[in-house]
Amino acid sequence: MSSQLSNEQLIKVAQEFGTPLYVYDADKITEQYHKLTNAFTKSDVKIFYACKALTNINILKHIKNIGANIDCSSINEVKLALHAGFSPHNILYTSNGIAFDEIEEAKNIGVHINIDSISNLEKFGKKFGHSYPVGIRLRPNILAGGNLKISTGHDKSKFGIPVDQINEILSVVKKYDLFIKDLHIHTGSEIKDVEVFVKGIEVLFDIIPHFNELEFIDLGGGFKVPYKDGDGETDINLLAQKVNEAFANHPNPNGKPLQIWFEPGKFLVSDCGYFITQVNVIKQNTNTTFVGVNSGFNHLIRPMFYDAYHRIKNISNPNGSTKKYAVVGNICETDTFAWDRELNEVHEGDYLVFYNAGAYGFEMSSNFNSRFKPAEVLIKEGKVYLIRRRDTFDDLLKNQIEAL
Ligand code: LLP
Repeated sequence: MSSQLSNEQLIKVAQEFGTPLYVYDADKITEQYHKLTNAFTKSDVKIFYACKALTNINILKHIKNIGANIDCSSINEVKLALHAGFSPHNILYTSNGIAFDEIEEAKNIGVHINIDSISNLEKFGKKFGHSYPVGIRLRPNILAGGNLKISTGHDKSKFGIPVDQINEILSVVKKYDLFIKDLHIHTGSEIKDVEVFVKGIEVLFDIIPHFNELEFIDLGGGFKVPYKDGDGETDINLLAQKVNEAFANHPNPNGKPLQIWFEPGKFLVSDCGYFITQVNVIKQNTNTTFVGVNSGFNHLIRPMFYDAYHRIKNISNPNGSTKKYAVVGNICETDTFAWDRELNEVHEGDYLVFYNAGAYGFEMSSNFNSRFKPAEVLIKEGKVYLIRRRDTFDDLLKNQIEAL
């Protein structure tokens, strides 16, 4: 049966650790990981967790223990991955728009690197030539994803080197005799339609023959998870079938079968996360009943930033009659979590839970309005672990220098 935390479990941890509180279900992460590996048993596939979604060190350790690799987007994420016990061989660093010295640092650590600009490719070639294998992040010029802000593969996106610049890429590769080990694309986040992945692969098939030392193809992340009731999700089994078919029909011209890499973030950690808040005030206005919770976009920015939908439930009154509410935060700006949302009748003090809050939830939180960041709790096989204490007042002053 699919792993899910019960209302009783959530209320218990909320009472023990206070709110607002992020709670993660480790068993759900394991389940999602196995969904992927089971779908791809017939292929040579490696899964790299895109840790930008959630970097708590305990989450990274859990992900390592279940056998996944890790994808990083900054050198600090690489260092966190090392701290969690990943070996450099299992770490991928897909950089974007970064200074070359960060790429050099990653090279010295010994991780896989995908380079996403001609400029950094040139610098890499000049310094290291053929001595260190490297990947190229391409922009496939495909528009897809749940929101323009999370679409990265289209023809106005800053990410990757546009595929139409292939001649410039090839001339840099030739000039420095670069050892190109992989080609990478990541089209966007929340891509439900398997055909988008297939389209991306087809773009690559025109390019693959130019690189005779290729060992793998990195297809990025972006699998859609259901945020709303009735929302679809990427059909992973169909994806596996299509990927297998595509590569079977296009064997690598250099004779080596190509391994396939994926970098899922949301797919692994979105559903594992529950964000528990508590109702501070109920404000009845002419047309709207506002439910004001003890949080805001400082803790969960997705609704305001991406117009994202998160299911919300009143776990304190799960059987109460339903009414429509606007769920808002306590930040001194508009921070609406949901309009016109049907909830079981809400009272001040009730616990409201936001679901699918594991990915890009705590990770994108801030101290705006000098509010504390929430605590984080991990539940694994029924055992409860506090994995981050709530901020205290000292944390707000920690790096400030009182110069006056
Ligand atoms: N690989 C690369 C190169 C990426 O840029 C990303 C996400 C991923 C993998 C993982 O994508 P995922 O499987 O999580 O969709 N903060 C936004 C999502 C931004 C995604 C950025 N890149 C949100 O909350 O929707």
